[in-house]
Formats: sequence, structure tokens, C-alpha cells
Amino acid sequence: MTGRFITFEGGDGVGKTLQTRRLTETLTARGQRVLLTREPGGAPGAEDIRELIVTGDPGRWSPLAEAMLVFAARAEHVARTIRPALDAGTWVICDRFTDSSMAYQGYGRGLGEGPIHTLHGLLGIDPDLTLVLDIDEKTGLERASLRGGADRFERMGAEFHNRVRTAFHDIARANPDRCTLIDATGTPDDVHARILAALTERGLLA
Ligand code: TYD
Repeated sequence: MTGRFITFEGGDGVGKTLQTRRLTETLTARGQRVLLTREPGGAPGAEDIRELIVTGDPGRWSPLAEAMLVFAARAEHVARTIRPALDAGTWVICDRFTDSSMAYQGYGRGLGEGPIHTLHGLLGIDPDLTLVLDIDEKTGLERASLRGGADRFERMGAEFHNRVRTAFHDIARANPDRCTLIDATGTPDDVHARILAALTERGLLA
């Protein structure tokens, strides 16, 4: 029996990290084996590549090189962490996956959809469910900046983050079988309740 693969997506500061933890706790309390992981990263080599992606000048990488780096990290993550866990029947909850590459590199950096679809096709894996957390990008960036130490992408400017948000809406609309758009406003409890409702609706939670 293979585990379920659930990804969380959304712009910077939507509260994904907190919500991935909350869902992991809830599923674990119900007796499910769950692995929580994140991108870029989630395997030793992928964490090394993460440093190249999230630090330094906004213009450090050309868009195609940046996309290939996130997919190199992802290939490592899938091979060493995600696939083995799913094969063992463990559910995997992942903070960001390919949709982030579509949003940040495809739309944000202007690479376009084609290269992202091509690179994703090489992985041979798709999430069972993607929760797209949505908040207006200004509130998101304000929340993110409260954490301090803006990473490379948080310094890319308002138009970039506008394109990222548009991308997540387009992705959710184009993939209704896989994606649920979650209103990420309100308290963490409110958002967690919306996420549990989405899992129930998809038959992933009794
Ligand atoms: P993350 O650690 O999720 O940061 P945050 O908690 O601020 O959302 O991701 C780091 C950055 O990497 C984030 O700004 C988005 C970016 N990113 C990409 O540009 N492409 C990708 O494929 C992924 C997975 C992340």
C-alpha cells in the first residue's frame, strides 16, 4: 500500500509552514504515519542546492538555470525521501513542490510554462492533493517580513509577487482534480479547519 502525497503551495508568508505542521500533528494523532518535508530541500544534497537558490542577489541565476537547480534538488528529494516513504505506506506532506517552480520560475522569472512541464515530466510523480493557500500578496510579504532576513525571492519586488499569486490561481483553476484553493486569512485554527474540510471532501479523512 502506498502512502498519500499532499503538497502545500502559496506565496511567501501565507502560513504554509505552520499549516503543514498542524496537519502533520492531526494526522499523526489519528494514527497515520506521516513524514513532513519541504522544498527546496528535504534530502542532504537538496539542502545544499537550496543554499544556492535562496541566498544571494535576486539576479544571481538566469531563469532556466534557476529552474534546473530547483528541479535538481527536487529529483534528489523524490528519489531519497519522498518515494521511499510513500512506498513504505507513509503519507508525505511537502511544503512546496513543482507548482512553486511554475509560480516563481515559470511566471515570476518569466521562463514560461513549457520548461517547467518538461522538467516536471522527468520526475514521474504527482501529488494526490495540493492545498494552495491564498492571501493577497501584500499581506503575505508583510507577514514574511515579520520573520526578518528576507530571502532572495522576498526581495524580488511587488510585480514579481503579483505574477506568483496569479500563477497559483491559474494552477488551481487548471487542475481542479488535484488542487484546492484555501482561504489563508483569519486565525491559524480557521485555516487548519478549512484544510481538514478539504481533506474530508477528497476522501482522505474519515
Ligand atoms: P520556502 O522555504 O518555502 O520559503 P517561505 O517559507 O518564505 O515560503 O521557500 C524558499 C523560497 O524558494 C521561496 O521564496 C520560494 C522559492 N522557490 C522557488 O522559487 N521555486 C521552487 O520550486 C521552490 C520549491 C521554492
